[in-house]
Amino acid sequence: MASPYQFTPRARLLDFMRQAGNPSLINLAAGLPSVECVPKAALKRAFDAAFSEEPDVALGYHTPDGDYGLRQQIAARFARRGISVTPEEMVITTGCTQALHGMIRLLAEPGEVVACEAPAYYATLEMLGDSGVRILPLPVRDPRGVDLDLVATLFERFRPKLFVICATLSNPSGATMPNEARCALVDICRKTDTHLLEDDIYGELSEIDGLRPIRSYDDGSIVSYVMSFSKTVAPGIRVGVCAPGRNTERFAQLKCQQDMHSATLCEVAFRKYLEGAHLDSHLLYLKELNRQRRQMAREIIEKYFPEGTSIWIPAGGFLLWVEVPQPIDIEVAYQAALLKNVAFSRGKAFFTTPDAKVSSMRINCSCPTANQLVQGLETLGKILRESL
Ligand SMILES: Cc1ncc(COP(=O)(O)O)c(C=O)c1O
Repeated sequence: MASPYQFTPRARLLDFMRQAGNPSLINLAAGLPSVECVPKAALKRAFDAAFSEEPDVALGYHTPDGDYGLRQQIAARFARRGISVTPEEMVITTGCTQALHGMIRLLAEPGEVVACEAPAYYATLEMLGDSGVRILPLPVRDPRGVDLDLVATLFERFRPKLFVICATLSNPSGATMPNEARCALVDICRKTDTHLLEDDIYGELSEIDGLRPIRSYDDGSIVSYVMSFSKTVAPGIRVGVCAPGRNTERFAQLKCQQDMHSATLCEVAFRKYLEGAHLDSHLLYLKELNRQRRQMAREIIEKYFPEGTSIWIPAGGFLLWVEVPQPIDIEVAYQAALLKNVAFSRGKAFFTTPDAKVSSMRINCSCPTANQLVQGLETLGKILRESL
């Protein structure tokens, strides 16, 4: 049984974000939804209304916790999913990133043990690596997420201070933990005094009826909850939220030191967007689009990728975790694909172990246009078959 270890992050968010801005690429690598998915007309109306109806509020300083009406709207959305959090118990953040960053900083000291999924979102790993904690990776071996027997054994032994988990449509695996497992996980964490940091950024894209966030099984004592509207509305408005639980005051203080408060204009406009009750119908549209794109990508991968390729089919969202046969060197395939202007995410970026052979890749099937998706995957399939 491996002991927790400190690590140097393998991937840097900065590099990925710069790559995402390259317009000449067929970008199967990015973690963002297509521009087609952004509800531009409704957002324009919301921003116009923010300017015309509340210019002084929208252009001024405001409380570090965020626009109160926006927090009320979000609290109402949370309540529908079983999360009981008042507006006073949440802080609006600059994307989910700021919420994750602040909570990791508050909850884990250098040298302490922090558990995470393996694979996990590379920016979370970067934050953990830079914070000097010792990592306890928990393998995600199937689309139902981490194995709870293993979690119970490892937590009993290593008593991690914190477990950062993306339990719904985990990035990159797409794994989604069933409700029973969520409840059992909270019990395990209570026994070992491990705090859970639930990153629910993909929660509203899940296509499983009745799925409940982990936070709905707790009152905020052991679970802190972060999410944003980057994957459901628009990443550029940077509206995220943190329900820290016991640490609300400390989190608000830290956030205030970082940026005083998030962009008031975006918060006011986003409040108006939510008041217009646009998000639910938009989510239905998104889910249908994501389903079509996943199906399209699946058919092309099955047709063009080498025999022995397996795809983890997620219950929602737009990211596919694809494992190709072991002999293929993903790094070589990545460089060859770049020469043909196709980018994908190399699986190793989502792991902390420096030497593990990772033969997986993450494919975004929403960001490229449908034509680009077909062209990009056909090109990639040809490169992979030639690499065998
Ligand atoms: C799991 C996960 N958490 C957080 C983020 C960052 O979200 P935001 O753009 O809201 O900062 C992402 C973005 O890809 C993500 O996949």
